[in-house]
Amino acid sequence: ERVLDRGATAVAHPNIALIKYWGKRDERLIIPYVDSLSMTLDVFPTTTTVRLSPAAQADSVTLNGTPAAGEPRQRVIAFLDLVRELAGRTEPAAVETRNSGPTGAGVASSASGFAALAVAGAAAYGLDLDPTALSRLARRGSASAARSIFGGFAICHAGRGVGAAADLGSYAEPVPVPEFDPALVIALVNAGPKAVSSRAAMRRTVETSPLYRSWVISSKADLADMRAALHRGDLEAVGEIAERNALGMHATMLAARPAVRYLSPATLSVLDGVLRLREDGVPAYATMDAGPNVKVLCHRADAARVAETVRGAAPGCSVVTARRGPGARLRMGAE
Ligand code: PMV
Repeated sequence: ERVLDRGATAVAHPNIALIKYWGKRDERLIIPYVDSLSMTLDVFPTTTTVRLSPAAQADSVTLNGTPAAGEPRQRVIAFLDLVRELAGRTEPAAVETRNSGPTGAGVASSASGFAALAVAGAAAYGLDLDPTALSRLARRGSASAARSIFGGFAICHAGRGVGAAADLGSYAEPVPVPEFDPALVIALVNAGPKAVSSRAAMRRTVETSPLYRSWVISSKADLADMRAALHRGDLEAVGEIAERNALGMHATMLAARPAVRYLSPATLSVLDGVLRLREDGVPAYATMDAGPNVKVLCHRADAARVAETVRGAAPGCSVVTARRGPGARLRMGAE
């Protein structure tokens, strides 16, 4: 307890959405337009320590050992302000984050980052929150972070209404399918930071893309189909639905004005490889987020073959095979 008085360390893993979140109906509260459903991974954890520093003048934020500046720093400070408001506290904090995966490359670093910050920040400031409340809090950092509070598969509700009602209704919860344990082969075709932030790209899509509304509608049907497929443990259906939902999301961006295009030639080569695998009878399905990297869902027994195909399709890319991973948690006594 005395240790938690001064600081807390949390670990969280990224998640990859099989039904995507894209677009906010409230930018301040970070309320999505659509429900989303994801798999939390067992790779690329983020470890975050929040230490209260009552004597300091301001918060300090370091990312992988380097002082953070600009927008990333501002987002962490705004998040701490929210935690302090909820806790009725005012002391500044020192935040140290280590991200073992690529940052800002469409591999969900903001999901693991804000999930870890929510868990560590709540503990450091003495807030006793249940997982639903932690998920709601993490959402205020990045909506995808709401899902990384939970391990395995999780659904994030977009919530209804506006203001406080929307805030209350928008959180993630687990989708209990313990026997569904596929592989996700991640092809890092470009691990550098993205050219357009997902935040800016979403706003442009919502405001200018004539395809956005129809994707929101089809996404509802995709989610219902996805839940049924997950409960059946039907990898082929899960993969088909995830792939069509992701391609539809990218179509909304391509139709934005000006277009947002995250997919690169290497992305398309990997997608061709995935098609060849299916032609050869290997169930493999692709999903892409706000970046060129491709995540390929397949049976664990096929993961090595899928990884080999992906490497051949995009020479020089690095390939990491993930499985379902754990939810965000406090690390005791490891400051
Ligand atoms: O929460 P953000 O800003 O990292 O949004 C990311 C959204 C996608 O990764 C593209 C889709 C999703 O649901 O994770």
